[in-house]
Amino acid sequence: LFGPERRNSEGLAFGDRAAVEALRTGVARVTGPFAAAPILDGREVEGRTRTVASPIDGASLGTVTEADAAMAARAMDAAAHGFSDWAATPAETRAACLERAANAFEADRDTLLHLLQAEAGKTLDDAIAEWREAIDFLRYYAAEGRKLFAAPVALPGPAGEANTLALHGRGVFAAISPWNFPLAIFSGQIAAALMAGNAVVAKPAPQTPLVADRALRLLHGAGIPAGALHLVPGGPEAGAALIGHPALAGVVFTGSTATARAINRALAERDGAILPLIAETGGINAMIVDATALPEQVADDVVASAFRSAGQRCSALRLLLVQEDVAEGMIATLVGAARGLRLGDPRDLATDLGPVIDGQAKARLDAHIARMGREARTHLAGTAPSGLFVAPHIFEIGSVADLREEVFGPILHIVRYPVDGLERVIEEIRAAGYGLTLGIHSRIERTWTRIAAALPHGNVYVNRNMIGAVVGSQPFGGTGLSGTGPKAGGPHYLTRFATERTLTVNM
Ligand code: NAD
Ligand code: ALA
Repeated sequence: LFGPERRNSEGLAFGDRAAVEALRTGVARVTGPFAAAPILDGREVEGRTRTVASPIDGASLGTVTEADAAMAARAMDAAAHGFSDWAATPAETRAACLERAANAFEADRDTLLHLLQAEAGKTLDDAIAEWREAIDFLRYYAAEGRKLFAAPVALPGPAGEANTLALHGRGVFAAISPWNFPLAIFSGQIAAALMAGNAVVAKPAPQTPLVADRALRLLHGAGIPAGALHLVPGGPEAGAALIGHPALAGVVFTGSTATARAINRALAERDGAILPLIAETGGINAMIVDATALPEQVADDVVASAFRSAGQRCSALRLLLVQEDVAEGMIATLVGAARGLRLGDPRDLATDLGPVIDGQAKARLDAHIARMGREARTHLAGTAPSGLFVAPHIFEIGSVADLREEVFGPILHIVRYPVDGLERVIEEIRAAGYGLTLGIHSRIERTWTRIAAALPHGNVYVNRNMIGAVVGSQPFGGTGLSGTGPKAGGPHYLTRFATERTLTVNM
């Protein structure tokens, strides 16, 4: 399935109680405190620290020393210095470093899972899925990189002329990542940029510096030279300093559409070369359900897509479009399924939804719930324990256009559409401008082929849930307001990190 050179990582059989208990015991044994700091040329930089608190219960997990703009600029200088040695390192060596890093991530399972749960509030199955995705990215980009970067490609020409085309690193890449996949996206961005021969300054999200620090040390331990990879924990100020630095050669960014626009504007205002921006952003992800869909399967897939990970996935379902003549029954089945979800400490195996990431996220979601309570029909409004928990909510709104922006939490919006209204629904989804994930539940092939062909979404899922793209099988990323492409975990990703050079020799 994945080619002879690579296999995706192994999961955990949750039915094997002994294996699950052994893993939980290992994860629970991990103790802090942890620390994160800027790492420049392999050395920690001292500075003012702040406490990192768990979203689960506010417990202190350790401290982070945050980089300011000046420190971010120093990291860029250091990366500029380290670039030429790394660019000259054979692709095989670069790939072998990434594969050793994958092995190191596997060996560090308990600590990485502990941090994903404690710092990002993930349930055990979400934490395992993310840890595996990080490992898969490392191995996938190593395998793809070997094919692309090992040797120049010979091209035809007249007798006496030799033509070759080779891929090279661009220089220093700023890798800016979000808190919701603080291991997989953080490591995936770094792995791709390094494999293509770039030096990297990585800036994790301010909510999740500890897991990033741990991953970066594993990457260095696997042989990535200190000069090629630097860590800058910090917020927008540090991020903006990376974008403004003269040594910058490219940006790989995952986060909100608003931040991608800000970065795009900042890049446009720079003097000098025109730089690439690889941006993976948000979505108002929709699922269209017609009268031929199976209600129980729809309920399962909607619950997973909208509420798993407390709705904090860029791929999560926000807008469910149900054909009017089956809507009443469909909604009743769905509400029944969602009512059974359990909120609480994600380290408890019975928990379905952990906390949202921080107080700001909760305040935004609470405000949206209050507005929907006034403007929409409420089908489900659960109650949440105190702390950063948000119960699943289901609201019915009048039209697609009533949901104007991505709502990043466990809140589902439903719109009914008339039997002859499919084309109108397609047009309304297109008009919103996003193009990340799209779900379709229909037993009629003509219907799902029509919908998939008419909309620009990067990842379309038919008769299943719409989350959890698998590296190498479901390359991930959207279009329009959802991002620039290329797709992470897909065969075209690495080339965007590289420059192409043609060499013509008159023999
Ligand atoms: P965010 O945009 O607030 O922050 C993302 C990163 O950008 C952080 O590291 C942040 O510190 C940094 N940043 C903020 N302002 C900056 C600036 N002016 N210059 C440079 N860097 C800056 O996003 P978030 O809240 O961390 O993550 C959630 C968002 O990410 C959601 O919108 C979600 O849909 C999106 N996301 C997309 C994908 C995808 O693959 N399409 C995957 C995961 C998350
Ligand atoms: N790649 C992640 C998913 O598909 C965001 O859910």
